[in-house]
Formats: sequence, C-alpha cells, structure tokens
Amino acid sequence: MRSGAVQFSRFTFIPWILRSRSSVLCRPSTTACQSERLALAIPRLRNKVTSMAKLLLLPGDGIGPEVMAEVERLIAFMNENGLGRFETEAALVGGGCYDLYGVAVTEDTMAKAKAADAILFGAVGGPKWDGVPYDVRPEAGLLRLRKELGLFANIRPAICHPALADSSSLKREVVDGLDIIILRELTGGLYFGEPKEIKDLGNGQKRAVDTQVYDTYEIERIARVGFELARERRNKVTSTEKRNVMKSGVLWHEVVTDLHKREYPDVKLEHQLADACGMQLVRWPKQFDVIVCDNLFGDMLSDVAAMLTGSLGMLPSASLGEVDARTKKRSGLYEPVHGSAPDIAGKGVANPIAMVASFAMALRYSLGMTKAADLVDQAIAAALAKGLRTPDIKSEGATLVGTAQMGEAIAGELARLAGKTN
Ligand code: IPM
Ligand code: MN
Repeated sequence: MRSGAVQFSRFTFIPWILRSRSSVLCRPSTTACQSERLALAIPRLRNKVTSMAKLLLLPGDGIGPEVMAEVERLIAFMNENGLGRFETEAALVGGGCYDLYGVAVTEDTMAKAKAADAILFGAVGGPKWDGVPYDVRPEAGLLRLRKELGLFANIRPAICHPALADSSSLKREVVDGLDIIILRELTGGLYFGEPKEIKDLGNGQKRAVDTQVYDTYEIERIARVGFELARERRNKVTSTEKRNVMKSGVLWHEVVTDLHKREYPDVKLEHQLADACGMQLVRWPKQFDVIVCDNLFGDMLSDVAAMLTGSLGMLPSASLGEVDARTKKRSGLYEPVHGSAPDIAGKGVANPIAMVASFAMALRYSLGMTKAADLVDQAIAAALAKGLRTPDIKSEGATLVGTAQMGEAIAGELARLAGKTN
C-alpha cells in the first residue's frame, strides 16, 4: 500500500502562471503574488531577493559536475553583483556517493534536500556502476529524492531557439519557434508501483514484474497542473495514455475528462494514445501546447521532445511538489534532462545550457526571482545568437566551443544584459 492517498481539493494546489520565458509561480490574491506582479512592473533588476536563498547542489556523475560548474560560475557572478543572494552547499549523489558510502544518497543529504529552498541536480549513473545492487544503483538516489520530497509534477519545456532550428534532425519549419511543455507525473506509475520484482519460478524460468498503478488523486493533481499551465499559455492540454490496453489508461482518461468538465471547461482538451502522441511529436510538434503524461510515457516522450529542440543538451526540467501546509514551502528539484553522458564526461565538451536553464527555472519557481530568471534565459539565447555552439548543436559557420567557454559566454551576456560590464 502506498501512503499519502489523500484527495487534493482544487484549493490545495497553487495555480501556476507560466509563459515560456516570463513565468511566475504564485497563488492569486496573496501578497506573494502581488509582489510577483510588482516585480514585473518595476525596472529590470530591482527584483532582489531579501533573504539568503539556500541551494543544494548535487552535481552527481559523468558530465554532471562539469555542467554544474557553469551554474556555480553564474551564482558567483550574481552574488558579487547584487543580482541575488545565494548560499550553496554541495553533496554527493549517485555513483560517486555509492563509491564512498555504499548508497546512492545519504540520510544527511536527504535532510539537506528537505531544508533547501531549491535543489540543483546534475546527472547520475554510468557504466562503472552497472554491476552494483539494484537498490543502491546511482538512479536510486534520484528516485528517492523525487519520491520522498513528493515531487510529482515534472515540467519539461521544449523550446526551439531560432538559432538552433537547423541543429534538429527534423526540418526547420517543423521545429522553428516550437514552445511546448511535457508535463510528466513523477512519483507514481510504473517507476514506483509494487510489486516490483524478479521471481525465480524454480523451473529454469524467472518472472519479472513491474506494476503500473495510479490512484484518482494522483491523476487529478497532475492534470490540474496541466490545465493551470495551459490557461496561461495557448490554452490546450493533450492528455496521453494507452486506454486501449491498460486499465490505468482507462482511469487516467476518465479522471482527466471529469476534471476538465468540472473545473476547466474553458481549456481545450484532447486525448491521444501515447504511441500516437510519439508519432505526432515528430510529425508536427507545433500542434501541442501542454502534453500531460504518466511517469513512463513522460520519460520517453520528453526525450523525443528534447531532440526537437536541437539536442538533448538543451532541455531543462523542474520537479515540484505540493505546498507543505506547515512550512508553506514547496520542494523543487531542477535538473537537465540529458543524463550523465559518460561517453563525453571529463572532456570539457558537454553542453551546459540545459543545466543553466534548469537554474533559471529554480529562480522562477522556487525563489520567485522572475526577472533574474528572464535574464538568464535571455543570456542563453544571446550566447546562441552569437553563433557559439558546443559539439552537440554544432552547425555550419558556427563557432565551436567547450563547456567552460559556453558558460563564460552566458555569464558575459548576463553581465551585459544586467548592465554589469566594466
Ligand atoms: C529522467 C531519467 C531518469 C528517469 C533516470 C536517470 C532514473 O531518464 O529523468 O528522464 O528515468 O526518470
Ligand atoms: Mn529519461
């Protein structure tokens, strides 16, 4: 039995206001939201945080530490120039943590994660740990963080910068200007359902079982996030499942349809079978606005969406929980979608953009620093517009750069945009 099977009423969820590059996350009619609106009205960069923001950095394995170093560069710049007040602490997670402590994440790090204002996560895993016991494999650290912090809503925006439209494996006209969100349920479904086991049948055969399980409240709360996001964008939700073969798909369809009828009739809702949605994503992705998926379909569809943007190295993500009734805080973990890429680790060629854009999402969703988030996003776009490219997004006539050069260029553009150049 899973715990926490609470019904979430429409009032327990804080509505979301999101536009791809000028988003805020707030509860209407609270002072937080008023100050958020105020922040939008006052001149650029007056939006300073008043207290120290506590960030937990979990660089992890493979290219994780390299791309995280570029976020640390930005944090240092912002601290020095009064663009933010950040206090950072780093900890091990994944394979590196296993090597030292025999587990993928320690109790101490879990406690720090719960106390942080936001968690920045690099990547975990690699061939070195292929043989480690399943329960302590590098990925187990990430999954524990997601589950124990209740990070059920995983927002993966896929935006194709005009400068990168030629780096996609699809034709320019198919991806140019793309701006969609894959909204993935992150704490349920096949990833966590029990039983999850390999049984020895005693006749030379084994049986592997993974369990796909969803309760009404889990479907409803992720769908609600989808409708709220859509309302502030192009007002369209595409709900995906496989109701033609899966009972969880039948319930998913029913719950989303009911919620839509009850609370969001103004939003355009369509349903697509998850396999058909994969096909439509590569055929004509601009038909979508917000795609709501379960944990496993969301994992796959977001990798597909990432490639539409030019490279897996471009896609950031935010994983958010419910607001804690006592502390009034919402946990948020921010990570690039790309993973640890062991083949290029240590070479200084990884694209840091997804990690930096994940930091921008942390500024936006966990720290209420909308202006700073906009600036970081604009700095990324400006570095790309100057023709700088890491190998994964290389194109003819562009200037090939490594991880650190791209990070320096983004920091330089941030300085210019913030009027902090000497
Ligand atoms: C992702 C990753 C993870 C997942 C792995 C590393 C456990 O692929 O965030 O998409 O499957 O969720
Ligand atoms: Mn994945």
